[in-house]
Amino acid sequence: MQTGPLVVSVASLKGGVGKTTSAIHIAAHLALSGRRVLLADGDRIRTATAWARGGSLPFPVLPITALARGVSAYDAVVMDTEGGVENGKLVEYAQTSDLIVLPTSPDINGLDGAAQTAEVLRGGGVGPQRYVALMTMVRPAGMKDIQARKGLSELGVPILKAGIRISEAFRDASNAAVLVRDIRSEVAQRCWNDYGAVTAQILALIAGDQP
Ligand SMILES: Nc1ncnc2c1ncn2[C@@H]1O[C@H](COP(=O)(O)OP(=O)(O)OP(=O)(O)O)[C@@H](O)[C@H]1O
Ligand SMILES: [Mg+2]
Repeated sequence: MQTGPLVVSVASLKGGVGKTTSAIHIAAHLALSGRRVLLADGDRIRTATAWARGGSLPFPVLPITALARGVSAYDAVVMDTEGGVENGKLVEYAQTSDLIVLPTSPDINGLDGAAQTAEVLRGGGVGPQRYVALMTMVRPAGMKDIQARKGLSELGVPILKAGIRISEAFRDASNAAVLVRDIRSEVAQRCWNDYGAVTAQILALIAGDQP
């Protein structure tokens, strides 16, 4: 029986793979579907906190240390974590989460990051139903994405079917401290919908469906 909020962590041993962008947009989809959502910023650089300063995010962002208090006021907590997170801390995140999402850019940095992160999780006794890779920065119909997916599944790392396209719109959103859906371009709306599909799959996975 689930008691307390749904907890999703976004993590990778590697930096710059789209953790904060993913945490913000997954939290936004959960919030806009009517849940009371908290984004817990676990990065000492506090990128997500800076993003919230624009005042246009539909959920609060608090430092992760604030979690001890008042967490029951939320239906869902999304935790953004720091690049290069220490192994023990990563396993702790997994143990306190319903699911740990590993953003993976389709290049050696992202793939290595996801594979190594999954290995640390496995070594810490975290089962493969508790973590899933998310392909980010995907070029439409890109071979790299297909090869990356193949590589990860050969390593036994589960991957979400939905992925996130590569687009300048994400940088524009972060620079303007708004969600990508607030960027006025068609491609930005597609970027927003990509995270909608990802959020739906995350919820399905937590409910017990196969990725
Ligand atoms: N799908 C995407 N397409 C293009 N650029 C993206 C995409 N997702 C994220 N970015 C950009 O890539 C950079 C890194 O993204 P982000 O900050 O989300 O990564 P991170 O894993 O949180 O990094 P860090 O390890 O430093 O915390 C940012 O400039 C962001 O705007
Ligand atoms: Mg970050």
